[in-house]
Amino acid sequence: MCRRSPSIPEFNSASSMTRATQAIIDLHALRENYRLAQSKAPNSKAYAVIKANAYGHGLLPCAQALTDVADGFAVACVDEAIELRQNGILLPVLVLEGAMDQAECQTAADLDLEMVVHKQDQVHWLAAVKGAAVRVWIKVDSGMHRLGFSTQEVPGLVTMLRGMDTVHDIHLMSHFACADESGSAVTAQQIKNLETLDPIKLERSLCNSAAILTLPQCHGELIRPGIMLYGGSPLQQKMGSQLQLQPVMTLQSEVIAMHELAAGEGVGYGHSFVTERPTKLAVVAIGYGDGYPRRAPPGTPVMIRGKKYPLAGRVSMDMITVDVTDSDVSLGDVVTLWGTGLDADEIAGHCHTISYELFCQVTPRVKRQYLGRAPVPKS
Ligand SMILES: Cc1ncc(COP(=O)(O)O)c(C=O)c1O
Repeated sequence: MCRRSPSIPEFNSASSMTRATQAIIDLHALRENYRLAQSKAPNSKAYAVIKANAYGHGLLPCAQALTDVADGFAVACVDEAIELRQNGILLPVLVLEGAMDQAECQTAADLDLEMVVHKQDQVHWLAAVKGAAVRVWIKVDSGMHRLGFSTQEVPGLVTMLRGMDTVHDIHLMSHFACADESGSAVTAQQIKNLETLDPIKLERSLCNSAAILTLPQCHGELIRPGIMLYGGSPLQQKMGSQLQLQPVMTLQSEVIAMHELAAGEGVGYGHSFVTERPTKLAVVAIGYGDGYPRRAPPGTPVMIRGKKYPLAGRVSMDMITVDVTDSDVSLGDVVTLWGTGLDADEIAGHCHTISYELFCQVTPRVKRQYLGRAPVPKS
């Protein structure tokens, strides 16, 4: 039996049938947020933290949008740094977890990456590097107990690194566990621990977004803003908009079906939402398959025509249902899940998470549309 392959209708990407779900990434807002971070620490350099695909916003478009304003970039791993270098990003790139093996350490030297050194193995790999010397940041465990050398180990390590001709510049780096909590005793203790290293006169980098905003005395020579670049708040009690940060990602979809339901009707999987009154229901083309969190509870707001409406029923893979009773909401309306006019921090609060996770979880199915791209220079 001969099976014929089905004929594929002519494809038109501009067709109005395209699924409207998209993440609009405002690169102008990204640059403005970077400038705001910089203005909080005017005597420090600032490396924009663009790890994890720039917190879901797109590694390269974000790096390219920041190249003429940023002092450098920070990524988690060498693979992310390679992607930057392969695409012509020549600014300093700091690898926050350092090398995973000897080969990565060599790559770091070849690509002129700045490397965190948080364990003895990495010192040995550095010693064996051939060719160019590497700029290193000693990760000090001042109390977070994730990565780093103890404050007692640091002086000996500095002496050792100073004796290595494969290392050309040594700095100190640490990370605060509770910088987002005001008056934290943990932070006070971390600062005290770091003071024991004052006699070692080395440049320091201690501050993520929360610490940039709350610990000006710790800014040091280099700050490492991450979430604030994307408009998310690093602080527990405040939303990004209250900190004058601009949303970079606006997650949008559209109303694809409308229903008028009588009181007493169940909606969606498990009928977890049952109408209490005659209800106008909007079905929106976004779900956990796009990264909209399944755990978003009923009542989580979405924005349509500038007004907030509550989620009703469970989040499905490709759809959500919204109670739009007594509104003029209609088929085809644009729906904002978070972004301009609706802080991701507000949605994160409903979902018992943080905006970091919401941004990172937006799946590849969601088209990223970039606004305010830097003009491509003419060759
Ligand atoms: C070592 C380090 N520095 C800076 C940052 C940026 O943190 P934030 O996004 O909270 O500004 C991170 C992010 O996790 C980090 O791991």
